[in-house]
Amino acid sequence: MQIPQNLAPCLRDNLNPAFLAEKHGILEYLNPEYLSGDNDKYRKLYDRLAPLYDFGERWIGFLKYGNTVAKMRREMMQLLEWQNGAKVLYVSIGTGKDFNYIPANVDAKSLQLVGADISLGMLRRAQKVWSRKLELSLVHCAAEDLPFADNYFDIVFHVGGINFFSDKARAIAEMLRVAKPGTRLMIADETQDFIESQYQKNALTKKAYADAQFDLAEIENAIPDSTRERQTHFLWDNRFYAMTFRKA
Ligand SMILES: C[S@@+](CC[C@H](N)C(=O)[O-])C[C@H]1O[C@@H](n2cnc3c(N)ncnc32)[C@H](O)[C@@H]1O
Repeated sequence: MQIPQNLAPCLRDNLNPAFLAEKHGILEYLNPEYLSGDNDKYRKLYDRLAPLYDFGERWIGFLKYGNTVAKMRREMMQLLEWQNGAKVLYVSIGTGKDFNYIPANVDAKSLQLVGADISLGMLRRAQKVWSRKLELSLVHCAAEDLPFADNYFDIVFHVGGINFFSDKARAIAEMLRVAKPGTRLMIADETQDFIESQYQKNALTKKAYADAQFDLAEIENAIPDSTRERQTHFLWDNRFYAMTFRKA
């Protein structure tokens, strides 16, 4: 199997060859241990939603919330420490909406961006939207088993999936492992209020989220004590949280 040239330097050298493949220019590293339970459920949901996802935020989201979603995404991106030329990992990239909100004082084209997601459908949308505009490589994998090398990325962040990952603590440990020492990481997702008022009522998502409950403290407690400057920010009138922390 041919590893795409721009991804070769960021991969770890102990990858299991049985999990590796390549589809449509997207590297696949799928460990079956993390493809069951909630991961399987949300992977299938997002594969189905992928063609509608950007339309939903742009039109339905805009009609309901005006430009407040864009404002929240911009605020989240400002919690990261951007610098030109940075190596950036976005875990659960989805369609890559947040790339619209990279701060204007950063040359987005200078960034070496890597996006990981468990849904191939979402990755293919990200590829379609961004591949000619940015230096972006995509990897189809679970957040719980990232194929990347230790201490590689200058910026590591996640938006919008961790509440229902099969193994949240493992995903956080993986994000920390691949970040360089000193990196400020961010993990952001919806609050329980928003899940109840939006996802459990929306026709497209209500079945999958019917019994969905998560505990914010569980995620806060999964951030290891070895990290510094741990903070939980609440955005968009408490509909979203963003946890930031620095790798020692
Ligand atoms: C609500 S979408 C958010 C997408 C994007 N981050 C955004 O803010 O628009 C949730 C994303 O998490 C991904 N996801 C869910 N479980 C995952 C896992 N265990 N590992 C990696 N990605 C996962 C889904 O495939 C989906 O793309």
